[in-house]
Amino acid sequence: MRAPPSCEEVSSNLSWDVAQQELGYRPGDPINIGWMCSDRICQLGLANKLALLWEDYQGTKKQFTYDNVRIFSNTFAEFLTDLGIQPGERVCLFLDRVPELYIGFLGILKTGAVAQPLFSAFGDESLLVRLADAGTCAILTQKKHLYKIRKIRNALPNLRHVIVVDADSASLQEHETPFAMERAPQVEHFPAYPTMAESPSVLHYTSGTTGQPKGAQHVHYSIIAQYLTAKWVLDLRPDDIYWCNADPGWVTGTSYGIIGPWSNGITQVVLDSGFNAEKWYEFIEQYGVTVWYSAPTAIRLLMKEGSEVVRKHDLSSLRHLASVGEPLNPEAVLWSQEVFGRPFHDTFWQTETGCIVITNLPGMPIKPGSMGKPFPGITASVLDPKTYEPGNRAGASGLIALRPGWPSQIRGYWNNPKGFEAKFRNGWYLCGDRASIDRDGYFWFMGRDDDVINTGGHLVGPFEVESALLECPAVAESAAVAKPDPVNMEVVKAFVTLKRGFQPSDDLELDIMNHIRKRLSPLAMPQEIEFVNSLPKTRSGKIVRRILRCKEFNEPLGDLSTIMED
Ligand code: WT7
Repeated sequence: MRAPPSCEEVSSNLSWDVAQQELGYRPGDPINIGWMCSDRICQLGLANKLALLWEDYQGTKKQFTYDNVRIFSNTFAEFLTDLGIQPGERVCLFLDRVPELYIGFLGILKTGAVAQPLFSAFGDESLLVRLADAGTCAILTQKKHLYKIRKIRNALPNLRHVIVVDADSASLQEHETPFAMERAPQVEHFPAYPTMAESPSVLHYTSGTTGQPKGAQHVHYSIIAQYLTAKWVLDLRPDDIYWCNADPGWVTGTSYGIIGPWSNGITQVVLDSGFNAEKWYEFIEQYGVTVWYSAPTAIRLLMKEGSEVVRKHDLSSLRHLASVGEPLNPEAVLWSQEVFGRPFHDTFWQTETGCIVITNLPGMPIKPGSMGKPFPGITASVLDPKTYEPGNRAGASGLIALRPGWPSQIRGYWNNPKGFEAKFRNGWYLCGDRASIDRDGYFWFMGRDDDVINTGGHLVGPFEVESALLECPAVAESAAVAKPDPVNMEVVKAFVTLKRGFQPSDDLELDIMNHIRKRLSPLAMPQEIEFVNSLPKTRSGKIVRRILRCKEFNEPLGDLSTIMED
């Protein structure tokens, strides 16, 4: 087994060297993402350039220059430092896509603490599991989410501070602190903590097949890869107006919704509201968006709304389109070419890679349905699942694998070294996905290599859903699997056996669905619950989700020799 990458290995790689030079980083110097994305940009003479143009669902608008971002992130950093938060401690961002989320993220990093963004639609159980695992010491939130935190506060002994960005002290309880970013006395100078390349920066939780979600540990050096991939793959140029649809509760929203664009000194726009085709097109038109980073589910939703609504808007500002999160269907590429006059460029990566690793670079001929080729500086292959050797036949399917050593690779899973080690085989990092490579070196995604459910680009761990299902008084046993869905690619389906005395009914199905929606999140809520008399199990009694999944997808069941017969 190969150890995780060292800085030397990474910096010996020519393409990443370019990024180091452009960012003015010399190996051995301190490197702080918070400083790099604000103070550094101001020093380049861009203090008055707009960093963020923000709008919410009610049409409230705000804008921030790079100097505003610098000063407000300083203000955050000083406030957190005054509260006694220490470098390395985890500070959670549990916020809608408000400016405080983007700027607070930099503020946390400037103190040397670790930013732990969590999707604000998470319910109390999803939140509890992730805050408890990380031993989080402070959480930044909004009034509307406080009720979830209050429910679990007593179970979190490490949580010293609940910081509310939109409340005054009158409405708060003990140990809840108001902090109004824009009204607090502004801090002109804050010496960013001298974090080093390997100092922890961001902790993102990602779902796996077994056990609770894992905390993927990123480091400050990740900016080297996020900067360069944002520049080269998203093709960011000085005059761009960039829009990333992703929520910073997930890695796309931090790597390419904060660090990528801001380390490049780009103006970005944020719309804090859900999907609405008409609104989205208006937004692009109004702000003159030039580069758009979106996701297949969003594109499919737009396709459903049709081409007419596109034609009602002048979207000629759009210059480059990219997509991430799930397989991008060829139809979506062709449709976008037709209606926007440009194709969506697929990009493949994951929480653990921290940056785009396989992609269609601008200008590269796109093969609709293919994810493209490895980014320069990334060595990728598909491995034979038995030998873990790269396959030598074009078109053969195998496990997507990367040579360790790129700057934004995670350095571990929090509290879970075994889980991290299990990701490496034969000197390769395994993504947990399957693909094939064609004669021209293009990668074609085939599917995940585990039971994780990808719904609209969000990974849902079956274990989490099953644990929450078992909290329902009626549920005896459960299995959560993916079910195909025309828009979200997959949705969660639950198979459930009931305890004695309970009967299947529509009401019971609704009760169970609601329980999961509140405890976990709307994403994790099963769209269907099938009541069954028994679940397929191995001879040793383990529930086999694979059989249920294959039935949903009408796929062959494969080897059933270890399965118990009913
Ligand atoms: C998983 C990672 C960082 C992206 C946001 C999700 C799937 C991602 C693609 C793509 C097919 C894709 C994979 C991957 N995925 N991009 N272009 N084509 N599948 O990050 O939550 O860590 O999920 O999303 O299964 O492993 P994540």
